[in-house]
Amino acid sequence: MTSPAVTPLDLQQTAKNHLWMHFTRMGGYATEDVPIIVRGDGCYLEDSNGKRYLDALAGLFSVNIGYSFGDEIGQAALEQMRELPFYTNWTYAHPRAIELAGEVASLAPGDLNRVFFVSGGSEAVEAAWKLARQYYLARGGKRIRPATSEPETRHDELVATQIQPRKYKAIARHIAYHGTTMGALALNGCTGLRLPFEPLVPEVRHVRNTNRYHRPPEETEEEFTRFLLDDLEHAILAMDPETICLVHMEPVQNAGGSFTPPAGYFQGVREICDRYDILLCADEVITAFGRLGYWFGSERYDIRPDLITSAKGLSSSYAAIGAVIATERVMEPFLAGTSMYAHGITFGGHPVMSAIALKNIEILKRERIVEHVRETQDVFRAKLETLLDLPIVGDVRGTGFFYALELVKDKETRETFSDEECERLLRGFLSEALYDAGLICRTDDRGDPVVQISPPLVAGDAELDEIVGILGDVLAEASKRMR
Ligand SMILES: Cc1ncc(COP(=O)(O)O)c(C=O)c1O
Repeated sequence: MTSPAVTPLDLQQTAKNHLWMHFTRMGGYATEDVPIIVRGDGCYLEDSNGKRYLDALAGLFSVNIGYSFGDEIGQAALEQMRELPFYTNWTYAHPRAIELAGEVASLAPGDLNRVFFVSGGSEAVEAAWKLARQYYLARGGKRIRPATSEPETRHDELVATQIQPRKYKAIARHIAYHGTTMGALALNGCTGLRLPFEPLVPEVRHVRNTNRYHRPPEETEEEFTRFLLDDLEHAILAMDPETICLVHMEPVQNAGGSFTPPAGYFQGVREICDRYDILLCADEVITAFGRLGYWFGSERYDIRPDLITSAKGLSSSYAAIGAVIATERVMEPFLAGTSMYAHGITFGGHPVMSAIALKNIEILKRERIVEHVRETQDVFRAKLETLLDLPIVGDVRGTGFFYALELVKDKETRETFSDEECERLLRGFLSEALYDAGLICRTDDRGDPVVQISPPLVAGDAELDEIVGILGDVLAEASKRMR
């Protein structure tokens, strides 16, 4: 074992020797330094060399209140540590989880009143799909044997008819990111992330997302909505509606670059889910707790989901906590007799994490942060739209504090870059140039190449100007290089 690292040099060496970073090409750090972030304030971060960065990604779309509330939140955590550092939500409850469940239920739209805590976004997604599967079992009704395992004896048949969930499949959308645990990964529409781990949890199909930028220019919004809903319904019919328990979608899809829904889309999805008796889950791991200028994106788009998955903004990432929020209808079969949702996580509803999330919500309310996003979003968008003057910026899309710029080779034809050009543009130039210029945002080519911008929700005029200024300079240089 090495002794604790103290100097920046020690930290570098220990990082290289021992820290396995997530989604990171570790080989790159054989010759390069690991970027080490040591402190934060407001919308800014500082690295171990004293260089400052404007964090236009809010950590991972998640530090909604920014980095300056450590004292206040730390005090809440300390008090909870003294009172009760841990107890479980398995059979028992404790005050902070109860209070947080009440608070979340009061903010969630409609009768989304039942809150099941987990430790993060992937766990929330995992728990939502499991809940949807078990919901149909708990509700009763006809069950079938799986086609793949014909029972050989009367006993097998009895067991199969008792435990085999008839409704177990799920539908998500192409390129959408829903996390990395095996179930959540199966819902992922990012092929590259799924491939190394197949076979995944059966059985998911991916339908079209709401990317309108590459649709025919003459297509109306109404026609686009119809086209998407037809695609969803065809998938449901092809899979057999009687076998599907879940449709899982973000209000605004992050991967691919802030795809907002066209008018009427979620009303149509809701109607289709009702028609085929399928639960609708809004994956609000990013969009909940203010990012779209509302407490929940479901409210913004009147989605009326049966389930919401949330995490990041619930604590502004000051704690590892997530939640599945369910309607009274989903809860109902679990209230009868001996019925129970057969799922649990040791740290679900952890008292210290819950105390932190409660304090975070108090701060979001007190500082009027959700209102600030709603009041500022048009100004933010207008600033970003000035970047459309650059030949490389084809589209600015998103809402609230959740935007993406799509980068194109040819603005007239909307032609995108080849894989090799994307590699050169994003990893060969943009990521490093933005970082060198002191701006943290994400360049992403899980779909077409985009720059994602999602700052802390406390960002004001000065920070928004700085973001757009740096993006303008770096993207102008990128335009020249890619000519
Ligand atoms: C929409 C969505 N769902 C789920 C997840 C997974 O969350 P986590 O990384 O906390 O497991 C993410 C993470 O970015 C996400 O954006």
